[in-house]
Amino acid sequence: MTVLGIIGGSGLAHYPGLEMTDVHNIETPFGMPSAPLRSAMLHNQPVVFLPRHGDKHTIAPHRVNYRANIHALKQLGVSHIIAVAAVGGIGEQFAPGRLVVPDQIIDYTHDREQSFFSDAFSADRHIDFTWPYHAELRQALLAAGKAAELSLIDGATYGAVQGPRLETAAEIRRLARDGCELVGMTGMPEAYLAREADLPYATLAVVANWAAGIAHSELSMADIQHTLEAGIENVRKVIAGLTDLPQLRR
Ligand code: HPA
Repeated sequence: MTVLGIIGGSGLAHYPGLEMTDVHNIETPFGMPSAPLRSAMLHNQPVVFLPRHGDKHTIAPHRVNYRANIHALKQLGVSHIIAVAAVGGIGEQFAPGRLVVPDQIIDYTHDREQSFFSDAFSADRHIDFTWPYHAELRQALLAAGKAAELSLIDGATYGAVQGPRLETAAEIRRLARDGCELVGMTGMPEAYLAREADLPYATLAVVANWAAGIAHSELSMADIQHTLEAGIENVRKVIAGLTDLPQLRR
């Protein structure tokens, strides 16, 4: 059965319009997830929703228990994961408000638990991560965006940074030289843990702001929140239009 896991990021701690059927307080071998998981029906599609930063957005990006979150979704029988993520835009076309389906990641985070197998490692646990996002799930997002008449950007390199602070202008220049077009604080190790858990995973990123130094103005949380609100409205349209998920190959 297809059950869509939705990890909500900044601006999506609650998912308006979800017809809740159950709340699950799940404990995992890796500790507690960010919040109780909610099962719901979304346009006849069973979904499980988990707010990455907790119900009240009190868990900082470097403190999220990514292992518990992915494990809890797996325990509940989720078959695919859509990760919604607020990001800063670096590349010219990645303006605030745009929705993007990234296709690559560079990981600049540190001191985060990167694997379910840290304490029980074996040579066969070096898992392929050439393409960090699930190709068909990405295509499903893009098709849903098209059906909703939204112009999603197909492909971008997401630079995953440690946070919780925003970057310096020089850091963003370095990310740009590295080829990053987006910057965010939660993309890793979440994407890799989903791969270890054998769960098709794709990110729907909402550009909340120009990254530091790009727009030559100070970043204000008020502006970011404002842009996010409009962006999240479109995120919901895309997710509502995700159809044909059962046909996705694992
Ligand atoms: N940098 C890092 N993470 C972010 C940003 C940013 O500018 N905007 C939203 N998440």
